Amino acid sequence: MQTVRQLPDLREAISAFREAGERVALVPTMGALHDGHMALVEAAKRAGERVVVSIFVNPMQFGPNEDLAQYPRREQADSRMLANAGADLLWMPPVEVMYPEGFASIVSVSGVSEVLDGAHRPGHFDGVATVVAKLFNQVQPQVALFGEKDWQQLAVIRRMVRDLDLPIEIVGVPTQREDDGLALSSRNAYLMPEDRARAVALPRALGAAERAISEGGDPEAALAQARETLTAAGFEIDYVALADAETLAEPTPGRPLRLLAAARIGGTRLIDNIPVT
Ligand code: PAF
Repeated sequence: MQTVRQLPDLREAISAFREAGERVALVPTMGALHDGHMALVEAAKRAGERVVVSIFVNPMQFGPNEDLAQYPRREQADSRMLANAGADLLWMPPVEVMYPEGFASIVSVSGVSEVLDGAHRPGHFDGVATVVAKLFNQVQPQVALFGEKDWQQLAVIRRMVRDLDLPIEIVGVPTQREDDGLALSSRNAYLMPEDRARAVALPRALGAAERAISEGGDPEAALAQARETLTAAGFEIDYVALADAETLAEPTPGRPLRLLAAARIGGTRLIDNIPVT
C-alpha cells in the first residue's frame, strides 16, 4: 500500500489508476480504525478495482468544546490494518494541505444538516460536507463508502452529491456491532469499563422502541420509554427521535423511517440508529 501526504503525489497515483481504466473506491475516515472501517474497506474492494482510504482528523467538524485534541490518533496501527486489508492507497494529508492559509470556503447543506445532530453540534455538518467535497475533488472516486452508523452524515452527503451533480455513487455500509449490540465507534475507546457495560442500553432502547412502533404502538410513547431506559442507565440524552430516513425531517405517512439517538455516558457522546420497518 502506498501512503501519500501531498496533493501532487496523490494526483499522480490517481492518474495512474484512471489511465489503467480502474474504478476508484474511496473510504473517507478520521483514523483510529476498527472493524467498522474494515467493513467499509471490504465493501470498497467489491465496489471498485482500487481502494483509496483517507485519514484526516478534520478540525472543521469539531465544535470548540469537542474532542479534537483528544481524538485518538494511531497512524502506524491504522496503516498496518489497511495494508493487511488490501487497500491500495492511503491519503493522509496534513492540516495545512487541507486548509491552507486563507482557506475561506464552506459547503453547507441546508435542511438535513440542521436537525438532530446538526442542532446539537452547530457547524458540524458544514465541516463534514466541506471536507468530503474536498476529498471527492482530490481523489475523484467513482464510488465512496460511508458507515450507516453516522446515518445523518450519510444523508447530508447524499444530498450534497445530488445537489452538486457530483458523478460519485454513494454506498452506505451497515453498522458493525459488538456481540452485545453496541455500535463500533472510534469514540468507544473513551468508555471506562462501567460505562462500556451500561452503553449497551443504547442499542437495546432503540431496538425496543423499534419493535413497539413496528407492532403499531404509539411512536411518542415508544420514544418516551426509550428516553426513560437511557436515563435509568445513566445516559444524558441529546435526542431520541423518529425521522424521515432521507431528509431527517418529521415523519410523514408512507415514507421510510429511521429511529436515531445521541446520548452521553461518562462524558462520551454515542450515536446510533436503526430502520423502522
Ligand atoms: O465519518 C467520519 O469519519 C468523518 O466524518 C468523515 C466522513 C471522514 C469526514 O471527516
